[in-house]
Amino acid sequence: MSAEAPHIPVMLAEVLAALNPAPGETVADGTFGAGGYTRAILDAGADVIAFDRDPDAIAAGRHLADESEGRLRLVEAPFSTIADHAAPGSLDGLVLDIGVSSMQLDQAGRGFSFRQDGPLDMRMAQSGPSASDIVNSYGVKDLIRIIGILGEERNAPKIAHAIVRARDGAPFETTGQLAALIEKVQPRKAKDTIHPATRTFQGLRIFVNDELRELARALFAAETCLKPGGRLVVVSFHSLEDRIVKRFIADRTSQASGSRHLPMAAPRALTFKIAGKAMVAASPAEIEVNPRARSAKLRAATRTEAPARDADMAVFGLPDLPSPAIGKQEGRTA
Ligand SMILES: C[S@@+](CC[C@H](N)C(=O)[O-])C[C@H]1O[C@@H](n2cnc3c(N)ncnc32)[C@H](O)[C@@H]1O
Repeated sequence: MSAEAPHIPVMLAEVLAALNPAPGETVADGTFGAGGYTRAILDAGADVIAFDRDPDAIAAGRHLADESEGRLRLVEAPFSTIADHAAPGSLDGLVLDIGVSSMQLDQAGRGFSFRQDGPLDMRMAQSGPSASDIVNSYGVKDLIRIIGILGEERNAPKIAHAIVRARDGAPFETTGQLAALIEKVQPRKAKDTIHPATRTFQGLRIFVNDELRELARALFAAETCLKPGGRLVVVSFHSLEDRIVKRFIADRTSQASGSRHLPMAAPRALTFKIAGKAMVAASPAEIEVNPRARSAKLRAATRTEAPARDADMAVFGLPDLPSPAIGKQEGRTA
């Protein structure tokens, strides 16, 4: 963890207001990071089960767990597995702060940033296929979908074709190599507010870490593990992630079946209700101090007594993309 660039927790006051942790309660923090939320929840008197799939984040949090006298349990695991570590109906709150931490972004060796040269890695868990594995082995059609859908990059076809042409001569090993190629394919214009590689890197990062499916599974886990009255709080930074949270809460706070094929289906019990505003953004004052908060969106809902519904991924309308495994994709060139 980089001591010179600590992660500033985003929308902490709003998160605490929505989560409302109290002594004697148990809250799951699905994204421990630098422990900003966890520390505040412990200070409010609740016990915490904190998850992070990044071994560095967990290692850096050990001292906090030691200091907490048994009130903080750290789990190195993806937050999609929360239900494997918390019993059904056992949690008073569950919070997710989606995305990467400043420590991950700022360390060139983690390969998340095109601003500094490092290995083209991007794996939060530091295991499994890396961004260079994907870039060097996936067929052009999959690369177009990853960069176009997950990165929301208009020039995805141009960039994907350029990647496939370039890698035959020399496979991509560093973030600098990929960023340089993208800058060549779509040179920076004076009016551009972001670097030409931003969207491609974002698409690859979301894909490598299977971030959308992770979030969807964590929302089902919240429905299972929260007790009646338990609070779900999600802070997201990307429209695709926010859409997943929004769709889940809309579905769970509605009686309609959600399926056009079951027009006569009986009304379903609501498993969540919305307590305050449907969506809260960061205050201008916070954005001024921490520009990372600019795109943050907080959504919260409270668990009702109704039994959990089926974990049907169709609720989310996720884009149809391969899983980030090497060997399962379409051919090397397409
Ligand atoms: C934005 S940071 C969280 C910062 C934290 N709220 C704080 O105040 O310090 C996100 C963290 O969540 C972790 N993370 C992201 N997706 C994850 C997932 N699916 N499972 C477990 N941890 C995840 C990342 O490794 C990163 O450390």
